[in-house]
Amino acid sequence: MDALLNDAIAAARLARGIHLYYQERGFAVDTKTGPTDLVTQADRETEAAIKEYLLGRYPDHAFLGEEGGQEREAEYRWIVDPLDGTVNFAHRFPFFAVSIGLEVRGRLELGVVLDSTRDELFWAVRGRGAYLNGRALRVSATHRLIGSLLATGFPYDVNKDQENLTYFERVLRKGLTVRRPGAAALDLSYVAAGRLEGFWEVKLKPWDVAAAIVIVEEAGGRITGIQGEPYELGNRYIVATNGHIHQQLLETLHGSG
Ligand code: IPD
Ligand code: CA
Ligand code: CA
Repeated sequence: MDALLNDAIAAARLARGIHLYYQERGFAVDTKTGPTDLVTQADRETEAAIKEYLLGRYPDHAFLGEEGGQEREAEYRWIVDPLDGTVNFAHRFPFFAVSIGLEVRGRLELGVVLDSTRDELFWAVRGRGAYLNGRALRVSATHRLIGSLLATGFPYDVNKDQENLTYFERVLRKGLTVRRPGAAALDLSYVAAGRLEGFWEVKLKPWDVAAAIVIVEEAGGRITGIQGEPYELGNRYIVATNGHIHQQLLETLHGSG
């Protein structure tokens, strides 16, 4: 795993370089499914660079990227969001990252999330703990939902798919404190770092969460679906917490807490 980890970190650093280059120089912006679903030149070029770097070293591996999809199956599969927080990036709101996860025979084994503007490197290898720039990470010890800091996010078509508005309203009506930072891979990494007690979202994709799932779990956190079932890639819902407030958050989301 060491070589794979080092290569994932090198690919993330390459990605950060491209993000910062385009922030400085300016970039073209296109829309995908609607006017608020953006893709920039930086998203595409970053994914191409990560893919070339990783498949150059591991030609037998599969690669799933947000912008290019997946061409073939293999035992080792990289799951990559080249730029998580594209809308933030496009507005020069400094909260965006690259996310690189590795799945081996269907199990997530390694994750690297690099915050481009802060140069904070979150990483984890299954069974070896989670780290931020070399310092071991641990989720927060808070047991009470009241007083916890929570985060969520919304899909680009939230006007058509409003399910999370119901959850969001329940959380707000309970007087809880909630943020919407805009980069799910970082939101999850912040749970691992104990900066947030919990995070939930609806309709995230495998590339948004693959890397950070390993980071949260290795930092002692808990990740489930909306019914408390073990989370698997492809689940429409994700709930990630420090473990202690998990049940209380689930009950609040369901309107029963
Ligand atoms: C988005 C971000 C955002 C989340 C959206 C994602 P993108 O990813 O993670 O926080 O709320 O659901 O699609 O498009 O910036 O890579
Ligand atoms: Ca994303
Ligand atoms: Ca993205």
